[in-house]
Amino acid sequence: MSTDPMRKVCIVGASGKLGQYMVQHALDRGYEVVGVCRERSVGKLAAFADRITIVPGPTNDREVIGKAVAGCDGVLTVLVPWGLRQYSSGTAQAVLDHADPDARMAFSCGWHITRDGKDQYSWRFKAGVRIVAWLARLVRVVDIDDQVEACRRIFASDRRWTVVRGSDLEEGESQGLPVWSRHVGDPVLASNLTRRVDFALFMVQALTDDTLIHEAPAIVGRLSPSALAHADHGRSPDPPAPAT
Ligand SMILES: NC(=O)c1ccc[n+]([C@@H]2O[C@H](COP(=O)([O-])OP(=O)(O)OC[C@H]3O[C@@H](n4cnc5c(N)ncnc54)[C@H](OP(=O)(O)O)[C@@H]3O)[C@@H](O)[C@H]2O)c1
Repeated sequence: MSTDPMRKVCIVGASGKLGQYMVQHALDRGYEVVGVCRERSVGKLAAFADRITIVPGPTNDREVIGKAVAGCDGVLTVLVPWGLRQYSSGTAQAVLDHADPDARMAFSCGWHITRDGKDQYSWRFKAGVRIVAWLARLVRVVDIDDQVEACRRIFASDRRWTVVRGSDLEEGESQGLPVWSRHVGDPVLASNLTRRVDFALFMVQALTDDTLIHEAPAIVGRLSPSALAHADHGRSPDPPAPAT
């Protein structure tokens, strides 16, 4: 008999690359899946259409989120800093406000988000973030500060959250569950590369790992050189037994 407490999960931002991988992982675990995506992106979920419930709409629409998360044991949210209208913080707030009282939540973001200010970034990483932020302001389609605000609200919440901070991403076959550390700058993370499919795996796995509640793990691929070189330093929860 399965001891997995998740039966029904909502994936907010299901149509994106990360979102679709999370849908697949959730289905693989036998979960009932509700996906939220923009109306125009519903077609991107065609391959899953007969296996999931799709709630179309903007992810920062409180009514859309309220409907989608009702009765869900877990909520996975892709936090993206799109637009200049508090898309990211509006999405996070809607999920925090409407998810069921005991729901587990995992939110995705990048290493640039810091929880306690103790992350140590290389000059190269800091320069990259500055350039992206500058370009984003220039084209006015992305607001990185709003993703920071979204995470500030999550960190301040007493809901059962995990914020998963992704390294640079690449496509490719799964290498298994990434390893993680509380702080960027830890040698185990130095390779700064994770397979996107495994970022999604970590998000889904986080829902059933209570040791990750109120943590903001920074992740890296488990077969990346730094993870292999510092295997004893990385934390990587064991995956649960498959549902029977
Ligand atoms: N890309 C990286 O290298 C990287 C690195 C570290 C962490 N992350 C984190 O990983 C997560 C997803 O990253 P990803 O690269 O894998 O992207 P992704 O899965 O393709 O996700 C993009 C998401 O943004 C939505 N989106 C795109 N344009 C939009 C718009 N104009 N308005 C509203 N929503 C829009 C997409 O929805 P539609 O399907 O409707 O377009 C989709 O849900 C984010 O939390 C990000 O911070 C990414």
